[in-house]
Amino acid sequence: MSKLNQFNNSIPEPNEYIKSLKSYSAPLENRRNLLRLDFNENTIGPSQKVYNAIKNIKINEISIYPEYNLLKNKVCLEYHKNRNFDINEIGIFNGADAAINAICKAFGEKNKVFLTTNPTFGYYFPCAEMNGMIIKSCSYNGNNFTFPLEKFYEKIRLYNPKLIFICNPNNPTGTVISAEKIIEIANKNKKSLIVIDELYEKFYGDSLLPIIDFKKTKNIVIIHSLSKTAGLAGLRVGFAFSNEQIMKQINKVTGPYDVNNFAVTAANAALDDQEYIDNYVSKVKEARNWIKGKFESLNIRKNFNGGNYFLIWPNQTPQVLEKGMKENGILIRNMQNKKDIDKSVRVSIGVIEQMKIFWKIYNKLDQP
Ligand SMILES: Cc1ncc(COP(=O)(O)O)c(C=O)c1O
Repeated sequence: MSKLNQFNNSIPEPNEYIKSLKSYSAPLENRRNLLRLDFNENTIGPSQKVYNAIKNIKINEISIYPEYNLLKNKVCLEYHKNRNFDINEIGIFNGADAAINAICKAFGEKNKVFLTTNPTFGYYFPCAEMNGMIIKSCSYNGNNFTFPLEKFYEKIRLYNPKLIFICNPNNPTGTVISAEKIIEIANKNKKSLIVIDELYEKFYGDSLLPIIDFKKTKNIVIIHSLSKTAGLAGLRVGFAFSNEQIMKQINKVTGPYDVNNFAVTAANAALDDQEYIDNYVSKVKEARNWIKGKFESLNIRKNFNGGNYFLIWPNQTPQVLEKGMKENGILIRNMQNKKDIDKSVRVSIGVIEQMKIFWKIYNKLDQP
């Protein structure tokens, strides 16, 4: 065989925004066999009906490209029973992450402002930056992290943002903003696209989706996912809902088959078993009340709000607590050095039995 003339040259230059981009890094490896209270996933897995649907998948489904209309129709009919969507107002994505990425690609613009709150979900930032956007954020108000509406409007006036992202309830503070206020922001800023990330809305129970009319309100996109409630985080299914014309633009930047047949099959089965999702959500809410009650007796800073997670500022440093919890089989998320929530840890809420395990170990490890 002839020898290839390979020499160690330099790599070609990446796109100018990618060069300086900090990639979204999260400690995602080696999490199996532990109690995972670090990424707000469903902690008990999907319904048996989802599992059966995947096990019974036909061999054909592996060799054929996926189709999406059955799932879209199901979303129209079953996901939001009191509300009819046009099928063109729905997009299916490879997790909510892919929806966020696609929205930024389709509507983000070089040197235009991306406005969000602080702290919030970290993946928004690389998605905005990779499209050359200038990021501005607005800190939540006070110790309880209430929504900073006045400051937010001030920033809107100052920066005229192209994209406004609001996580509602917000990860990691659980802060909520009402549907009326969101519509008001959208009406006052018709040139901005307002993205409402409602990944955790079921744990609070106040979604904009059932009441918004995308034919009238044309500059809002709502994001949902089956990761946190239905237990499909590993299969990656997210939805975006918006005006038909907005969805048309977003669909231009996604591949035609980005969501695979296993995910589609699981999503169809999950939506057929809404009872399972509702049941899981009510168990988490029950567990949230229980663990909140336990923390009330402790003299440390804590923050319980709308989501399936809470923040605490432990007696130990976050690293020490995180390490100790992990040694005892429990993962939590260290928020050290994050602006406005420095020295805290975020703990996801599972079912009550899991929170009892968490509480027992936490109590042992975090003595003043
Ligand atoms: C606020 C928020 N949006 C989006 C995502 C991504 O969700 P998915 O698993 O559907 O990509 C997460 C995951 O943690 C999240 O917390």
